Amino acid sequence: MKRITVIGTGYVGLVTGAGLSDFGNQVICTDINEDKINKLLSGEIPIYEPGLKELIDRNVSAGRLTFSTDIPPALKKSEVVIIAVWTPMGKNGGADLSAVKSVAKMIGENLNGYKVICTKSTVPIGTGKIIREIIEKISGDSQEFDVVSNPEFLREGSAVKDFLIPNRIVIGSESERAQKVMKQVYRPLFINETPIVTTDVLSAETIKYASNAFLAVKISYINELANLCDATGADVHLVARGMGLDGRISSKFLHPGPGFGGSCFPKDTSALVHMAKKENVEMKIVNAAITSNSIQWMQITNKLDTLFKDSFEGKTISILGLTFKANTDDVRQSPATPVIEYILKQKGNVRAYDPEGMANMKKLLPGINYCESLQKAVEGADGLMIMTEWHEFRAMDLKKIADLMSGNIIVDARNILDPKELKKNGFIFENVGRPNVK
Ligand code: UGA
Repeated sequence: MKRITVIGTGYVGLVTGAGLSDFGNQVICTDINEDKINKLLSGEIPIYEPGLKELIDRNVSAGRLTFSTDIPPALKKSEVVIIAVWTPMGKNGGADLSAVKSVAKMIGENLNGYKVICTKSTVPIGTGKIIREIIEKISGDSQEFDVVSNPEFLREGSAVKDFLIPNRIVIGSESERAQKVMKQVYRPLFINETPIVTTDVLSAETIKYASNAFLAVKISYINELANLCDATGADVHLVARGMGLDGRISSKFLHPGPGFGGSCFPKDTSALVHMAKKENVEMKIVNAAITSNSIQWMQITNKLDTLFKDSFEGKTISILGLTFKANTDDVRQSPATPVIEYILKQKGNVRAYDPEGMANMKKLLPGINYCESLQKAVEGADGLMIMTEWHEFRAMDLKKIADLMSGNIIVDARNILDPKELKKNGFIFENVGRPNVK
């Protein structure tokens, strides 16, 4: 058992803190945002993440997890400090490190004996060295500490599961002492024989970007193949299955759609290209994925144009799904945003519904009509678009939807509706890369 302070209680920090307390560690999750910490202290969870409330409640009750805005005393009590503050996209596409740097300064000011300083935030390659230098400069030579890079691989919507049952743990540190401490932090996983990859700091920092960018490339690749299938008549799902059964390729992340979004892939691909450029290395493949993704949403609006014969002025389009993927309330870089903006520009009316994302989307697009239920959103609509793969939409009764709508046009940007059922219920529809299943 280790005493741990997590700095930054966003989705990564909160899931990490709660997960580590579940492993038996004594964890204080801290943040400068009083509102967030007050909510957590009163048992409220500031984000929508399946299973997180149960995990937090269980560990708060067991006395292993607490929350505080008072960071210095928490630091002084802890042997392990986890940095999980945000690193937003800064100017020129690089990551903005100001929050990480000010946390490093605070750690330096409160160093009182050996500590492992561990970064969970996705930070540019070389940040471990910067953190070390800041802490050394402030704390002087008398204090001992080690810097570790321990990247997270948590998907929003399944972050709790990804934390408790990970594919691998990456621990980057040149110090044997720190590696030993981190193995104790993750002891239950170590006992379960979860692969633990020990590396130097630079390699661990690189693994994070390399993994996210690879997945982004894979998605863009299948999206472009889906566009090709649309043109040739092949079915991209059969193509993906035929490819994915080859263990060298794998079936994961071969689902075509309106393009990747969220707070990670867009930011991390851009940061990787930016970092490489500084080293005079051109990341042509990642760059291509960024370009391909930036226009993938237009494939979806092109389908709407085709079905409405190029004009939907004055027509009502129901948008089902606003979040960048299912099981989250996150709308950052969601492909639903440019799609809605396009419809509004063409003078169409938008009626939107999402099980969890409406409050966040209202901040970005306040002027559209948000509906309290799926039924209300589709009532009287001329067309319907599925933008997120929520179970609620997969399970829709298409006969009922046909009765509720005025028109019969559907664009399924996630390929979740059964083409046979759509046809049976009189819909004219488009999906992504499956022209021969109509
Ligand atoms: C991603 C990574 O999967 C995590 O391993 C990583 O830790 C995280 O970023 C991060 O850096 O914090 P996340 O962005 O939550 O997680 O979501 P993903 O499930 O990876 O999906 C990203 C985007 O790709 C979504 O827009 C999703 O709809 C899209 N996607 C995913 C596809 O279009 N097709 C697929 O087959 C898979």
